[in-house]
Amino acid sequence: MAQEKAKETENQRPWLSWICDSKSIDDLRRKYNTWASTYDTDVEKDWEFMPVNAARILANLLPKKDAAILDAGAGTGFVGEALAQQEYTNITAADLSEEMLTVARKKQVYKALFQCDLEDTQAFSKKETFDAIISVGVFAHAHAGFIVLQNLFCQLKRGGYFVLTVREKYYAEMQEAFESLPWTLISQEQFQVYDNEIIYVLGFRKQ
Ligand SMILES: C[S@@+](CC[C@H](N)C(=O)[O-])C[C@H]1O[C@@H](n2cnc3c(N)ncnc32)[C@H](O)[C@@H]1O
Repeated sequence: MAQEKAKETENQRPWLSWICDSKSIDDLRRKYNTWASTYDTDVEKDWEFMPVNAARILANLLPKKDAAILDAGAGTGFVGEALAQQEYTNITAADLSEEMLTVARKKQVYKALFQCDLEDTQAFSKKETFDAIISVGVFAHAHAGFIVLQNLFCQLKRGGYFVLTVREKYYAEMQEAFESLPWTLISQEQFQVYDNEIIYVLGFRKQ
């Protein structure tokens, strides 16, 4: 039964395994570049509620509307749009895929956009510059892991907030990494995605 359900999910969303089976960061970048023009229509029904909820959760933590926010793995800008709905005005987008960012730029919700590999420790010129970081659909297989987490942590100001999503299976793999950083888990909500999978929205505060 569980296998049949997994097969159905796979049939309805062939891009899920296509993207999560990427063999390298270049492979991942190429795939997102290819996908960029149809990403919004492909994932809208299943996914748009996640950026909306993550933005709502950040808004519960961060009342300052001109706070400097990094949308890490911004993609086509779903999260930026949801943050703009929450009246945030100072949002920076970072993503691996220039084509995803081209779509995001057209939405006119970001103050700045830049293409980078979030694993690259030289990607940011300064440290501790953001009041908050939000990362939706990025901590996942073949995407981002501990190096990205550490790198982003360095970009967060003390007392800053980090809101991220992680699916249940990957959460188990990342738990030790999450617990190793000097921050506090202050918010956790769970949702159902892709028929029957659990996904968490975690909110941390840097000490
Ligand atoms: C599933 S999409 C999510 C996009 C957007 N946050 C959303 O919720 O629609 C994952 C995004 O993370 C980006 N990404 C994955 N690994 C990355 C890395 N190491 N550095 C920068 N961006 C990365 C991909 O290019 C892609 O745009």
